[in-house]
Amino acid sequence: MKRIGMLTSGGDCQALNATMRGVVKGLHGCFKEVEIYGFLEGYKGLIYGNYQKLSPDDFSGILTKGGTILGSSRTPFKELDIPTPDGLDKVKSMKENYKKLKLDCLVVLGGNGSQKTANRLSEEGLNVIGLPKTIDNDLWGTDMTFGFQSAVDIATNAIDCIHTTASSHGRVFIVEVMGHKVGWITLHAGIASGADVILIPEIPYDIKKVCAALENRTKEGKGFSILAVAEGAISKEVAKLPKKERKQAVTDAAAKYPSVAYEVADKIKQYSGMDIRVTVPGHTQRGGSPCPYDRVISSRFGAKAAELIKKEDFGKLVVMKNNDVTAIPLSESAGKLKYVSPDDNIVKNAKMLGISFGD
Ligand code: F6P
Repeated sequence: MKRIGMLTSGGDCQALNATMRGVVKGLHGCFKEVEIYGFLEGYKGLIYGNYQKLSPDDFSGILTKGGTILGSSRTPFKELDIPTPDGLDKVKSMKENYKKLKLDCLVVLGGNGSQKTANRLSEEGLNVIGLPKTIDNDLWGTDMTFGFQSAVDIATNAIDCIHTTASSHGRVFIVEVMGHKVGWITLHAGIASGADVILIPEIPYDIKKVCAALENRTKEGKGFSILAVAEGAISKEVAKLPKKERKQAVTDAAAKYPSVAYEVADKIKQYSGMDIRVTVPGHTQRGGSPCPYDRVISSRFGAKAAELIKKEDFGKLVVMKNNDVTAIPLSESAGKLKYVSPDDNIVKNAKMLGISFGD
């Protein structure tokens, strides 16, 4: 009999359910008897011992279902050693609940912060397997996270829709794309939708260069322009400030504008007089059904997790490397972000196509 705990932590994304289904199907292929305990609302469920014993039927018909049947929440890693408002020691409680249920392994579907916590629990002696979730694709050690491609599809579709109306009216539009501190979704959706300008956090922009790119299009007789702007995009002036001043500048801008896209629109207007419209697809990028690509990789990730559990090869993060599904130690990935490098070929290719990064 194997007793497996499972939780989904952090911002949700498409294919969380598909991944859990993959794990459970894989486990039933590996072991005669398996009991699955789903902790509700992420690590919170493990801290408070809030779980449900799940049957194979609970995982049936969820391959295409967005969200997570377990619910999710954020339990910031940096607050892990701060007791809960009702005085519980979080790490101690999680270990106790794991032991109370006599679990053989805890499977954590999560992004950066969640995998850092998974690594901590592994260091504390629990058997843990991590599965790489996030629309942002910023988890270090994996070429791909599940959720990313589905978010790229939604952001691309949003920009495609804006493209047609922008061209009818000869307007300049900014579409703001999610991605937290990295520009992967914006870069991919921007290229996929033929954006003229792509602004990402890893390549700070110069507003004069952005305006020059837009003016060039007007000179070439193009009546409209599309900018794909990452929610974390940052100007060259702000990027070069010392850390404390930079943080303050970002806080000041957040107080002045609803989001980064509005700031960029305002700066373009001030510098060139152009009237800009802004669209923010926001959380739609995390919603709905996973795309086929995500269904495939999440099913494969799930199967790999089952294989690792069978081999008792714990303390691992399942990853995609060179188109193959494999695993690395959780400790190797913990605490590192996978950024876009301005030297990546994908950036060079985009520049060859005439896309401006405002740099
Ligand atoms: O990490 C996923 C993500 O959607 C980021 O792209 C975004 O910055 C953040 O979560 C939004 O978080 P919340 O759902 O808490 O507003």
